[in-house]
Amino acid sequence: MLEIRNVNVVYDPNTIFRKEALTNVSLQISSGESIAIIGKIGSGKSTLIQLFNGLVKPDEGEVLLDGVDINTKNVSRKEIIRKVGIVFQYPEEQFFAETVFEEVAFGPRNLDFSQKEIKECVYDALRVMGFDPPSIIHRTPFSLSGGEKRRVAIASVIAMRPEILILDEPTAGMDYAGKTSVISHIREGRTGGLTTAFVTHDMEEAFYLANRIIALDSGFIVFDGSPEEFFSNRNLISQIGLEAPFVLRFREKLLDCLGEIPFSKNLETLVDLIGAMIGH
Ligand SMILES: Nc1ncnc2c1ncn2[C@@H]1O[C@H](COP(=O)(O)OP(=O)(O)OP(=O)(O)O)[C@@H](O)[C@H]1O
Ligand SMILES: [Mg+2]
Repeated sequence: MLEIRNVNVVYDPNTIFRKEALTNVSLQISSGESIAIIGKIGSGKSTLIQLFNGLVKPDEGEVLLDGVDINTKNVSRKEIIRKVGIVFQYPEEQFFAETVFEEVAFGPRNLDFSQKEIKECVYDALRVMGFDPPSIIHRTPFSLSGGEKRRVAIASVIAMRPEILILDEPTAGMDYAGKTSVISHIREGRTGGLTTAFVTHDMEEAFYLANRIIALDSGFIVFDGSPEEFFSNRNLISQIGLEAPFVLRFREKLLDCLGEIPFSKNLETLVDLIGAMIGH
């Protein structure tokens, strides 16, 4: 389990650029969760996820992984990197290897896994991301489509068998098909028991993929709870400059003219329910 306790992060202290990026942030991530971290640009999302594996250090407070403060001297970096895998924004820009196999094997190799384990991890991770390993491992990563590249990049972190998978805007800059395939495979990984936390600007993704929302505003956590609860709080959503998912906005508009209507996250089901209600 990962726990953040009363953390403050200040960039460039003692300069005119001083920036309080996170203030008094506390949260816990338990096994099996799928968490969407949302908030406007500059609200502290990337800073928060970099705390999770020690890339950003708190100025105050603690980051505990399985009860151990990761910022104390005697904690092994390798152990943290193994347990907390982070997929950064546009990860495919960091590709360097000549084959997909070598690209995905880089992490496990660095963690001193045996040859046999490396192969198993690479194959398993590629399968989680929807590939047939034998038909892709010999290809050069640069020849893949945008969506495939992103999935290989995610596989290269999954291959380290992290306990928690953190993704910073995993679908940024992708077209609809690419987004859909990345999302569906992240969802499959989660169904397989992988704990995930992802940053997103896409409220549809947050609504359909997460079972918990953490919303940041100017470095403060302003909400931590279920997607249903978050997206039914119209005042909070507009206060922090976000927009509810389409299906909820659609339902709300209809409520004005129809009064009570049933609830469903699924647009087709909602339309059927409303149809039945008005006699169609
Ligand atoms: N290395 C850094 N040095 C100085 N200031 C930084 C640094 N990284 C982030 N900041 C500042 O801290 C604040 C939070 O940044 P952060 O990148 O965490 O936001 P974000 O929510 O991820 O934004 P975005 O949606 O644009 O990715 C911003 O004001 C940013 O300018
Ligand atoms: Mg960011």
